[in-house]
Amino acid sequence: MINLSNFSSIFIANWKLNGNIQFIDKYYENLLVNPKNCTVVCSPNIYLNRLKNNNINLFTGAQDVSQFNEGAYTGEISANMLSDEKINFCLVGHSERRQLFNESNEVINAKTSNLINNDIIPVICIGETLEEKETNLTKKVLAKQINESIPDGCNFENSIIAYEPIWAIGTGLTPSLDEIEEVHSFIKSINLKFERFKVLYGGSVKVSNSKDINKLDNVDGCLIGGSSLKIDEFNLIIS
Ligand code: PGA
Repeated sequence: MINLSNFSSIFIANWKLNGNIQFIDKYYENLLVNPKNCTVVCSPNIYLNRLKNNNINLFTGAQDVSQFNEGAYTGEISANMLSDEKINFCLVGHSERRQLFNESNEVINAKTSNLINNDIIPVICIGETLEEKETNLTKKVLAKQINESIPDGCNFENSIIAYEPIWAIGTGLTPSLDEIEEVHSFIKSINLKFERFKVLYGGSVKVSNSKDINKLDNVDGCLIGGSSLKIDEFNLIIS
């Protein structure tokens, strides 16, 4: 199991449904990994085996996993299969999965357990909608997501939380630095168990805001979508 406490920051590229073989070759020719940090690239499953992994500070991640371990579930990929292919990380509960594929906290909880049982680090995504933010429901929504989607077996050594306000994903909008810090410290204070968790921020992270976001006390890295597809930008963010 990777020792997460070895890293001052963790940066995760979420390519979503993007990339192809040519793109991957160019990406790794140009990727400049910062040895102090942990860099994880999450590609579509079909390409996972083509991604580079040095087992020191550069790792591979999947974007989703099945809630089932085996059986008649056409199209699914299990945590055990990811583990067979030496995948180290896996996103779970990304808002696009929650919203577009109706994933519930209960399903996310099952997926997370499967990952932990296979020594894959789940990156459990949580976040509020704009309406929830505007009606002051952020903390309530996040607490519910955390309580229901994070199984008892999760701890700071085997799991990561990513706070991604849904309204900030792909929009160019971000919460203020104070708001990010407040939410991250809230997440870590929900329960003693979360105090030492790595909590990443995601949602419109780019070169112009990543340094300030990462300087915040309770931010332990970033989950990056759009900007992770541009290798020069991603290099600057992880530097
Ligand atoms: P974004 O996406 O960086 O393009 O906002 C983040 C994510 O969806 O994980």
